[in-house]
Amino acid sequence: MAPTAPDANGATTRTVEIAPSVLNADFSRLGETCTELERAGVGRIHWDVMDGQFVPNISMGPAVIASCRPLVDLPFEAHLMVREPDGLIPDFVAAGCSRVLVHPEACTHLHRTLGVIADLGAEPGVAINPATPTSSVEWVLEDVRQVLVMTVNPGFGGQAYIASMEGKVEELRDLVDRRGLDVQVEVDGGITADTIEPAARAGAEVFVVGSALFRDPLGVAHAVEEITGNGLAALTGG
Ligand code: DX5
Ligand code: ZN
Repeated sequence: MAPTAPDANGATTRTVEIAPSVLNADFSRLGETCTELERAGVGRIHWDVMDGQFVPNISMGPAVIASCRPLVDLPFEAHLMVREPDGLIPDFVAAGCSRVLVHPEACTHLHRTLGVIADLGAEPGVAINPATPTSSVEWVLEDVRQVLVMTVNPGFGGQAYIASMEGKVEELRDLVDRRGLDVQVEVDGGITADTIEPAARAGAEVFVVGSALFRDPLGVAHAVEEITGNGLAALTGG
């Protein structure tokens, strides 16, 4: 169970969960990195999958994920930055991803694609780019387990956080809460010990963190603890 704290008005309890992205990890040590992250107490591993078409970068495929699957017990979530992903989804589920997030910008038939994920027994999610409005996923909120708000333009780690996305996080948080949905609001991109604070206050509860974990001179466990602590403090006004 991710760490929790009451929100500012004390009405609800919100989690602060770090979802580490291994995009900026040393790919020659991915297995060791996964076990190091598990020891650091994270609740999942976020795999940034890029096809060089939907985003201007290529990262990793299902075989890489499958090679790490037996090493840890953590849930794997695949963030598919892939154009028309339907045909690839079975391979990522078979590789051990229990959550699969797709972009509405990359799917001709988003509702059908989410059904492909669910029919394979995985949890569907959607990820929306900075310019994409919340309305693009409004009619599939009942079909997903999480909505990921990109706080950078997808394709690379180490980019600057786009603070204006907090308005979209607030909008989504309000929509999810008003409908009483069990949907996690997640942010991805430029999350650090500093930017997690406004993102948490805006209503995010899962935070994809990549480069801020691996550039911490005190190590991954220290970074996870510090960033989580700042997120919790932001919720309680500490
Ligand atoms: C962008 C990726 C990154 C990554 C996190 O497409 O999705 O956002 O997960 O990278 P950092 O934390 O380094 O911004
Ligand atoms: Zn991602």
